[in-house]
Amino acid sequence: GQLEEVSMPLFFGWFLCPAFQDKLRSMAKDFLKTLQGLEAFKEHLSDFTGEAEKEVDLEQYFQDKGMLHCTTKFCDYGKADGSKEYAEQQIVKDRYGSMSELKLSTLVLTPRTLGARVSLTEDQLRLWPAGVEKEGAPEADLPPGSRAHITLGCAEGVEPVQTGLDLLELVLLQQQGQEGERAQDLDLGSLAYYGKGVWVLSLHEPGLAPACFCSYYG
Ligand code: A2P
Repeated sequence: GQLEEVSMPLFFGWFLCPAFQDKLRSMAKDFLKTLQGLEAFKEHLSDFTGEAEKEVDLEQYFQDKGMLHCTTKFCDYGKADGSKEYAEQQIVKDRYGSMSELKLSTLVLTPRTLGARVSLTEDQLRLWPAGVEKEGAPEADLPPGSRAHITLGCAEGVEPVQTGLDLLELVLLQQQGQEGERAQDLDLGSLAYYGKGVWVLSLHEPGLAPACFCSYYG
């Protein structure tokens, strides 16, 4: 009925507890500060500025996109394909409003986006929509959940949806056996460079972020 259409959210997802949002933001800040001081990063600075000599302030370069969350299904108020089917699944109804822990394994930085990769558990994967990997990387065959992430920031003019697409590109490279060029061991984790301005920090200790599964209406 009409009310059902009205009630379709912008998206479903896991929303990080406020205390952990602060923690993750400050972790990202530390990472940006450290990265832009590294010689290895400076060597590839033109990936970000278009010019080799120009300085870049990564903290300003990546704009905050609001409350931190991991999108499951982007519904666009019901306009996106499969929204209704997703919302009507029993597991979505059962888990709505429940807490779980998101495992953050990696930070991924590109000239477009800064994000945290999320490794979903079997149970969390039951809430993951079918087809979103194929939609983002039609030529690839990536396991469900490959796209799961938290957008931490976007370059000017870049939409948050790009973070998941950047992640899929990286996962595809890794699936093809690329490990990146090992750059440095940082306090937070080990850093690798994948070319074209793509930097990947594998955290020594994955972060566990308490999060609530629900939806956002905007
Ligand atoms: P993400 O999950 O990568 O952060 P917007 O503010 O652009 O309307 O987006 C709202 C949220 O929905 C953001 O979290 C965004 O990206 C996600 N999103 C936007 N468009 C899509 C899409 N086409 N597919 C999947 N997620 C999307």
